[in-house]
Amino acid sequence: MKAVICTQYGSPDVLELAELDKPTPKDNEICIKIHASAVTASDVRVRALRFPFFIRTMIRLVMGMTKPRNPVLGLVLAGEVESVGAAVTKFKPGDQVCGMTGPELGCYAEYRCLSEKACLVKKAENVSYTDAAVAVYGGLLAGHCLKKANIQEGQNILVYGASGAIGTAAVQLAKHFGATVTGVCSGANMGLVKSLGADDVIDYTADDTVPEGAQYDLIFDAVGKDKSSALKVQSKTALKETGKYISVDDGMLKSEIDVLELINRLLADKKYTPVIDRVYTLDQIVEAHHYVDQGHKKGNVLLAVQN
Ligand SMILES: NC(=O)c1ccc[n+]([C@@H]2O[C@H](COP(=O)([O-])OP(=O)(O)OC[C@H]3O[C@@H](n4cnc5c(N)ncnc54)[C@H](OP(=O)(O)O)[C@@H]3O)[C@@H](O)[C@H]2O)c1
Repeated sequence: MKAVICTQYGSPDVLELAELDKPTPKDNEICIKIHASAVTASDVRVRALRFPFFIRTMIRLVMGMTKPRNPVLGLVLAGEVESVGAAVTKFKPGDQVCGMTGPELGCYAEYRCLSEKACLVKKAENVSYTDAAVAVYGGLLAGHCLKKANIQEGQNILVYGASGAIGTAAVQLAKHFGATVTGVCSGANMGLVKSLGADDVIDYTADDTVPEGAQYDLIFDAVGKDKSSALKVQSKTALKETGKYISVDDGMLKSEIDVLELINRLLADKKYTPVIDRVYTLDQIVEAHHYVDQGHKKGNVLLAVQN
């Protein structure tokens, strides 16, 4: 099968298209023919080993010292179950699924075997593989953070970095939970964020402060600690006394099956719109990583695996 391998940690040029053996499912696994994956901020960080020193050391120990032990990156997939192991009961050949792997990654490939207990669901047939693949990453991570923050109907929420993969998901999920949402992004992305349902949008490149008198129950930093602005710093003073500040960089994010089921339902009901910025194929992976490395994608970058 065709797959992209990461030959060492480093710049996008360490990625190469290769021919690998097609995997065979173990008794408890399903083999998925991958139609679509995504090039995520997490993938580029792992490739470049771009983490604070302590986490970098942990990742080397867990994933491999000089290069990933499993050389195939890629966290999310959507595809069709091609075969199943003898003990599998949850899925059958022909099922269309989407989900996220654990730290073993492996979705930049034509096939991936995963335990039937992995974070996977049957996708609705009215949802394309491309929409399902990209919805998984932002949806799972934003959903996890909003759940952790115990988001409640009627709350006033600020999503900082509302135009990225996690931000575009956070705006839509927060609206689904009944919050009033202010999205923060640059001027060029204001229309996009508004179209996703944000009640108000602030341009962090033009404004240094949130509107006078604004008070938030929750500020969700959806772009992480490396990306900041005067407005991000000032916004913390607009938290209510009981308000919470939560960042995507607060610890390791979890993928939770109940959140994936929610995303899947919202996609099927057309109540969640995955944002796709650019589409690349496996043989364009170096270019795709260069683009995502810049940190300015709008929503998601799709990796089309079956053309
Ligand atoms: N801790 C964990 O386990 C974990 C897991 C996954 C992801 N993460 C982190 O979560 C972060 C977000 O991921 P993502 O995929 O959503 O990112 P992303 O899609 O790469 O974010 C890009 C977006 O960020 C916006 N942006 C860039 N600089 C900004 C700034 N200073 N202020 C506000 N917005 C800014 C860009 O808009 P403009 O072009 O308009 O600026 C662009 O739309 C990543 O840094 C990732 O490493 C952490």
